[in-house]
Amino acid sequence: MKILAIETSCDETAICILEAKPNPKNILGNIAVLGNSVSSQASLHAEFGGVYPSLAKREHAKNIVPVLIDVLNQAGINTENKINLTNNQQAELLKLFEHEPELYEIFIKHMPQIQSDSFDYICITTGPGLAPALWVGVNFAKALSIVFGLPTIPINHMEGHILSPLLATNANFPALALLISGGHTEIIYAEGLGNYKKIGQTLDDAIGETYDKTARLLGLPYPGGPQIAKLASHWRNTPPESRQMPPIEVELPRPMIHSNDLNFSFSGLKTSVLYTLKKLEEFGLLDETVKTFFAAEFEQAVTDVLVKKMLKAIEQNPIKTVLVGGGVSANNYIKESLVEAIKNYDENIVVMFPDQEMSTDNAIMIGMAGIAKISINFNENKKLGDIVAQANWEL
Ligand code: KG4
Ligand code: ZN
Repeated sequence: MKILAIETSCDETAICILEAKPNPKNILGNIAVLGNSVSSQASLHAEFGGVYPSLAKREHAKNIVPVLIDVLNQAGINTENKINLTNNQQAELLKLFEHEPELYEIFIKHMPQIQSDSFDYICITTGPGLAPALWVGVNFAKALSIVFGLPTIPINHMEGHILSPLLATNANFPALALLISGGHTEIIYAEGLGNYKKIGQTLDDAIGETYDKTARLLGLPYPGGPQIAKLASHWRNTPPESRQMPPIEVELPRPMIHSNDLNFSFSGLKTSVLYTLKKLEEFGLLDETVKTFFAAEFEQAVTDVLVKKMLKAIEQNPIKTVLVGGGVSANNYIKESLVEAIKNYDENIVVMFPDQEMSTDNAIMIGMAGIAKISINFNENKKLGDIVAQANWEL
């Protein structure tokens, strides 16, 4: 079975083609990536310090056809002939792209003709995410569905992040998933494929957002996560005897670390970062070394909270596997700290992370969630008209 998967929920336009073959030893079977492309808008959003929805929409509309052509070429699918639409199809697409007229023009001009048996399914992220960005992908998937007569499967972006560590590896359920990204901080109990229950979440800001805000206050560019990680790792790798501690005590809070539930809160940490940096600046202490120290203290604070909450979640829910996904799961220190703490608690629990390029938004994880849906015979039988962007879709 071949799947074309599309992801446009935030600031990455991502498309891939997967081929899945059943394998009884692997819960998602054997998956081959026949083509894969991600066009990131991160540098364009950098000047706003975060993702700017109308800019995201415009960029998705501009990039989605070229990204598809790139992926088709990688998969060895001929893209030389331009598409030939019937009058009816043209009318249908004109209506479909009512709010994306620029995409309609690009589609008519540049969309290649492809064999309708090139794929079996189209998988599309319908939520959660930024509505204007999601709609570009949703309408594009519907257009392909109309033109090539293929079924479209709506996918939850968070299910993609949950399954992202399983591209080449089997996993045993039940599992706990820790989803840490720019928009989410959640703990999900996964009884099996397609059977998910949220058991903890942030009550305010997401962890990635907190990384990005802290980075901005430190004068680092967006996205700030990798920048802070670099500084923090530099500090940790400095031998203790060579470390120059700031002359005033700096300790950030670990919000909700002792609360009895599995929820998180990062807004207090963000405020504390703001005031502490202000104080350091007032005293003229915010030099490069202090910034490095500060990044490490920040990373330690969020790591302490994540580790504590995951151990609590494991204590309360006997599981076999921990799946960690989302952009922040690329963070090596968080990774090592979670693995170590969970191994110390119970060495039989397997902790799994996606590869670096699968931790941030991509289409492969969306295709994998599609394969999961198909493998459990999940047939929503949705009419094309019923497939809509759901900015706040809860798993
Ligand atoms: O999953 P993702 O690509 O997009 C969302 O769905 O939000 O996550 C992006 C977030 C950003 O906040 C970025 O700063 C953070 O992931 N991030 C990191 C690292 N790499 C990306 N945070 C900490 N350490 C990293 N190495
Ligand atoms: Zn994401």
